[in-house]
Amino acid sequence: MGKKDGLNVLIFGATSLIAVHTARQLATRGYSFYLCARDEEKLSQLASDLQIRGAAKVAAFAGFDAMRPESITQAVNSAFEAFTHYNIVLLAHGYLPIDGEKMTCEQESLTMRINLLSCMEIVCAIRANYLDGIKGGVIAGISSVAGERGRGKNMAYCAAKAGMTAWLSGLRQQLRSAGVHVLTILPGPTDTPMLSHVAAGRLTASPQAVAGDIVKAIDKRRNVIYTPWYWRWIMAAVRHIPEFLFKYLKI
Ligand SMILES: NC(=O)c1ccc[n+]([C@@H]2O[C@H](COP(=O)([O-])OP(=O)(O)OC[C@H]3O[C@@H](n4cnc5c(N)ncnc54)[C@H](OP(=O)(O)O)[C@@H]3O)[C@@H](O)[C@H]2O)c1
Repeated sequence: MGKKDGLNVLIFGATSLIAVHTARQLATRGYSFYLCARDEEKLSQLASDLQIRGAAKVAAFAGFDAMRPESITQAVNSAFEAFTHYNIVLLAHGYLPIDGEKMTCEQESLTMRINLLSCMEIVCAIRANYLDGIKGGVIAGISSVAGERGRGKNMAYCAAKAGMTAWLSGLRQQLRSAGVHVLTILPGPTDTPMLSHVAAGRLTASPQAVAGDIVKAIDKRRNVIYTPWYWRWIMAAVRHIPEFLFKYLKI
């Protein structure tokens, strides 16, 4: 492992509102950041914001597009050129189709690519060349409660997140002996741009609250968290609805 010069955080999808609030909370501890996203202006605003809040160093890669595998390799290589080790790798990018009921095959495969395949490719690239650089650290992947049951309204997103949850579980087993912890984050509906087309309900959480749960879970090396906590019990009930009834439900 390279020389440790502080606590470093690598974020993919750094401009996601949940990631922004997570990074803000970590910045107050003086962490350093490498931010990967596709919007240069938002990245530069976030970098300044984190520095004002106490981040030690902030660097960014604005060419990360989960649709383009070559940009993933570039992002990972640039990240490990900037810092030799990371204590936290947060996979936060995601795509929720607005009208999931009327998706084309192309949109379905795009949904799988952005939400699942790109995350696998990021971790493959890190494992292949930089595994030592994340030893002792945490890979925190944002999946979703949506992955616990396929819904007709958004079945490709549900499938991608189900895959993400299963993959993170396998990754946790595989990387345990390498000294890398894996955290699966299962948020319920959260008030971010991703849900801007849906009216917020009583169970919709704030991105600040979700970020707080993520930071606590990283600190405590939790394996799987539902955030907010009540989704653990809601989804336990939803998972138990028999399929012969579930197919009639409009949820
Ligand atoms: N909000 C919810 O209700 C909810 C619930 C459960 C799970 N989640 C998950 O939480 C994570 C964070 O989402 P959020 O709620 O914070 O939503 P958000 O603020 O809308 O963020 C979505 C992020 O994904 C990025 N993104 C989308 N397509 C991309 C692509 N092709 N390449 C690179 N980045 C791409 C966006 O980049 P730009 O800034 O460039 O658009 C943005 O940074 C996602 O994995 C999401 O699935 C969200």
